[in-house]
Amino acid sequence: MRRVPLFDLSPIHDDLHDQFLDACNAIIRSGNFILGHTVEAFERSMAQSLGCKFTLGVSSGSDALLLALMALDVQKGDEILCPSFTFFATASCVARLGATPVWVDVCAEDFGIDVEDAERKVSSKTKAIISVHLFGQCCDCQAVQSFAQKHKLWIVEDVAQAQGAQYNQRQAGSWGTIGAFSFFPTKNLGGFGDGGLVATNDVDLAEKARCLRVHGATRKYEHTYLGGNFRMDSLQAALLNVKLPHVNDYIRQRRRNAQFYQQQLGSLEHFITLPKELPHRYHTWNQYTIRVHQGQRNALQSFLEEHGVESAVYYPKTLDLQACMQNVSTDKGIATHVAHTLANEVLSLPIFPGLTLEQLEYTCVTMRKFFTQQ
Ligand SMILES: Cc1ncc(COP(=O)(O)O)c(C=O)c1O
Repeated sequence: MRRVPLFDLSPIHDDLHDQFLDACNAIIRSGNFILGHTVEAFERSMAQSLGCKFTLGVSSGSDALLLALMALDVQKGDEILCPSFTFFATASCVARLGATPVWVDVCAEDFGIDVEDAERKVSSKTKAIISVHLFGQCCDCQAVQSFAQKHKLWIVEDVAQAQGAQYNQRQAGSWGTIGAFSFFPTKNLGGFGDGGLVATNDVDLAEKARCLRVHGATRKYEHTYLGGNFRMDSLQAALLNVKLPHVNDYIRQRRRNAQFYQQQLGSLEHFITLPKELPHRYHTWNQYTIRVHQGQRNALQSFLEEHGVESAVYYPKTLDLQACMQNVSTDKGIATHVAHTLANEVLSLPIFPGLTLEQLEYTCVTMRKFFTQQ
């Protein structure tokens, strides 16, 4: 039996192995392990690639989101519009600050926040909207921007899954007031452990975030804000500096894999909905997430597993239904129906860079076998 992993870093890491070791050796010899010029060099490269004025390397994507909201002074009494179909960290950062996540539905086509539903849930307490670019494609950035301008809201972009994605040829993370990135190993630019970044064009926000990253200190032992330890390690930055020049190539490989699925699985459109790259967008395919109809998702996943093909459900339970969110969030009496449907239907297939043609073909053959034996 063949085996197709959901994710494997060895095809892209093997080529860079010696450079990784050189980068680590340089940091070990330098004796500087936190922030410093290696992190600054990474921040400069990221700022350039994003077209953003200010970037700050931080400890994780979750911390990037928390730091972004702290820099915006989000606090108890504030409402933040947030999709209910996303990774937990998108909304937990809101609740951790004592503010209220207000659940907004998502669009089935791009999994992004549904501005029409946001329109029903915005109030005088709303301070910001969190736009998540889920699975590697931008949400409708134009619609989010018009909505935010109309209601005078900040936009916090959750770019954890979509580094390199574009909307109208503008980079994800450069549309909002502030963007949060993750370098969790499976992301488009995967690090070696946890890491993240915030990006903004607002000088005051950048300066405040810079202080908050080091316990809110404006000078050593002068704590102006109640910050935290959100610092990026130099080793992390050194290794990311090696990978960053290759990220566009990794994305091109993901795009080729998506195109293959598109061609090979088209005949199954009666049973499944394939994800699409929508007009004006450049999809980075961090995940290739299909929707499986007629309650067949779990059976398909088991069949794939029995045949050696790994897959995953991102996400089986929406955030409005999570136990810890029951007393701290609201959907304002309007359930997020599309999000709930997606949680029952989605299945992500292997798409990582370095996936071989043979593995792709085998995955498609196994998919077709499942549906033709019905
Ligand atoms: C949409 C989204 N937001 C936030 C995060 C949090 O990033 P991290 O794991 O680096 O803390 C993730 C990571 O999985 C994510 O997918």
